[in-house]
Amino acid sequence: MQDVLVGASAVTKDFHVGKITVNALRGLDLDIHKGDFLAIVGPSGSGKTTLLNLIGALDTATGGKVEVFGQDLSGMSRRERAELRLRSLGFVFQAYNLVPVLTALENVEFVLELRGEDGGRRATAMSVLEDLGLGELADRRPNEMSGGQQQRVAVARAVAAKPRLVLADEPTANLDSENGESLLKMMRQLRDEHDMTFVFSTHDPLVVAYASRVVTIRDGKIVSDIRKNSGEEAPGEGVEVRRKGTEPPGDGTEVN
Ligand SMILES: Nc1ncnc2c1ncn2[C@@H]1O[C@H](COP(=O)(O)OP(=O)(O)O)[C@@H](O)[C@H]1O
Ligand SMILES: [Mg+2]
Repeated sequence: MQDVLVGASAVTKDFHVGKITVNALRGLDLDIHKGDFLAIVGPSGSGKTTLLNLIGALDTATGGKVEVFGQDLSGMSRRERAELRLRSLGFVFQAYNLVPVLTALENVEFVLELRGEDGGRRATAMSVLEDLGLGELADRRPNEMSGGQQQRVAVARAVAAKPRLVLADEPTANLDSENGESLLKMMRQLRDEHDMTFVFSTHDPLVVAYASRVVTIRDGKIVSDIRKNSGEEAPGEGVEVRRKGTEPPGDGTEVN
């Protein structure tokens, strides 16, 4: 299918800690489609961050295959993966990872600069900050901002260049519901107006309410995959839930 942006099949990821092997992903299959506003939910330690890191070409799978925009990541060099991240992906890390010596504005502008975009970078960066209600923070450095403010700047940085795919690891974790909601609305607008696709890992019911699709992961496997019919009008209310015919039977049901 041409609108599959990410295809993960039979993906495994093992971490070795001393003599212990942690099987973080245990044969995971997932297709992410263009325009998805996808929430990945599941208990702490279930593999959400690991999965985002693999899709984001930040780490490599132990087994199985991860394809992003039709390219098999395992066949790519580090340099090619870095190029893919720079050109086509936006990443919001759980720990923000803002550059400490740069102001909010400079942190956002920096990404545009790395991509070699010329002209109007500062204005683009400023307008993204303003869209997020962060205009007044433009001149502050990360240590002069609250966790929630840094989180929103990290989102601004990830979306500024309008990458095709944005991966966000618990992007609302430090936000109150008002800020969380304005962030989600802004991202959904980007999805609608710029053909962007969003994948979130989250524990936040608000993100789940806004999502067009909710995938539950448990012990490194997907246990349910629910697409909403019309989640766009009134998040959280009267949203009809339909399960895809090909998907496992129910919430929390172990597959395979
Ligand atoms: N770099 C790592 N080294 C060792 N174990 C890891 C590493 N990253 C994740 N894990 C382990 O893999 C499992 C999945 O972790 P993670 O993907 O962070 O889960 P989640 O994001 O759903 O909380 C956990 O058991 C975690 O301890
Ligand atoms: Mg995590």
